[in-house]
Amino acid sequence: MASNVNERDTAPQKAADAVFVPTQEHGFKNKVQGYDWSQGLDYGKLIGSYITTGFQATTFGLAVNEVNKMLAKRIEPIPESLGLDEFEEDLFIKRKSNCTIFLGYTSNMCSSGIRDTIKFLVQNKLVDCIVTTAGGVEEDFIKCLAPTFVGNFELKGSTLRESGINRIGNLVIPNDNYCKFEDWAMPLLDEMVAEQKEKGTKWTPSKIIEKLGRAINNPESVYYWAAMNNIPVFSPALTDGSLGDMMYFHSYKNPGLVVDILEDLKRLNTMAVKASNSGMVILGGGLIKHHICNANLMRNGADFAVFINTACDFDGSDSGAKPDEAVSWGKIKKDATPVKVCADASLVFPILVAETFAKHHFSSTPK
Ligand SMILES: NC(=O)c1ccc[n+]([C@@H]2O[C@H](COP(=O)([O-])OP(=O)(O)OC[C@H]3O[C@@H](n4cnc5c(N)ncnc54)[C@H](O)[C@@H]3O)[C@@H](O)[C@H]2O)c1
Repeated sequence: MASNVNERDTAPQKAADAVFVPTQEHGFKNKVQGYDWSQGLDYGKLIGSYITTGFQATTFGLAVNEVNKMLAKRIEPIPESLGLDEFEEDLFIKRKSNCTIFLGYTSNMCSSGIRDTIKFLVQNKLVDCIVTTAGGVEEDFIKCLAPTFVGNFELKGSTLRESGINRIGNLVIPNDNYCKFEDWAMPLLDEMVAEQKEKGTKWTPSKIIEKLGRAINNPESVYYWAAMNNIPVFSPALTDGSLGDMMYFHSYKNPGLVVDILEDLKRLNTMAVKASNSGMVILGGGLIKHHICNANLMRNGADFAVFINTACDFDGSDSGAKPDEAVSWGKIKKDATPVKVCADASLVFPILVAETFAKHHFSSTPK
């Protein structure tokens, strides 16, 4: 009987051993700590508290540190052993600093207001090379001709179709915008065909984007600034968008335009090979992510990397692949500290730029 009483009053030793495993010495130093609201509202401190907040807030804080490492490397002198790249005649791919920064983004980034953040980076020469998809090119030019509007995710496709309105997430673009784009782009395609025939110009996506950037002649445009600042814009699938539709129709009216994607691959890979250090900032996945990472394979890996995307890696997609997968391929250096932020870039990127590129730019620019 007595032993039965004991069993009722004392927890079984087996369960106690399982639950109360003693903590061993550990190396964790950063205490979880959110924002202290008793300080009032201070956005700088609020964002600064992210790194110790946990989850994607912490990852965001690590991304801030990673981009700041790129910027610190960028202002260090280029090692003398590398020379000044003085024999490079192509000004767009000439080495410009001690850390070449590759910026990649999906088309929808340019459809959204993230375009304005990208323009800030390009206008102020804070990045050296861009890779985007066709929509990321044309949406910038179209916005110079007519606006994109905020709608909502629930607008009915069939109703929008009848009204000549196109939807991208919760943004809407009138069909007329594309007609204006066509009126603007078609004569430029004529000029390209003529130049190809008369001067033997070999058109590549990056040369086409440079030509369009000069032609739009509008400081609101990302690609106007890219052309002005000798920043190359690569888009190997340039035909997969409205620009491609235009090239298709144009090829019946005035055939002959040839677009060489290999020449652009050589330009992009050369930039990576000759970089003293390299950093990748990639918003979204798909082509843009792989194209930049693959170019960095040519130099045995990027030194710094930040990915911001919503894709998962359980399906084996390159879009969702974590940076460590790129390390296995030699696309990111083994000793790098790359960061993937799992988030919608429209929320995260402006704040990331505020904490990194913008602080760096405004602290070094006289008022
Ligand atoms: N405005 C447009 O989106 C538009 C316009 C014209 C043509 N297109 C064409 O559609 C094709 C597919 O577009 P794409 O390759 O640029 O990318 P996508 O839209 O297919 O996105 C690729 C991946 O990037 C990630 N991603 C996308 N948006 C994100 C966000 N806001 N935040 C975080 N991660 C995000 C997602 O994981 C997504 O699966 C391209 O060929 C493009 O030219 C797109």
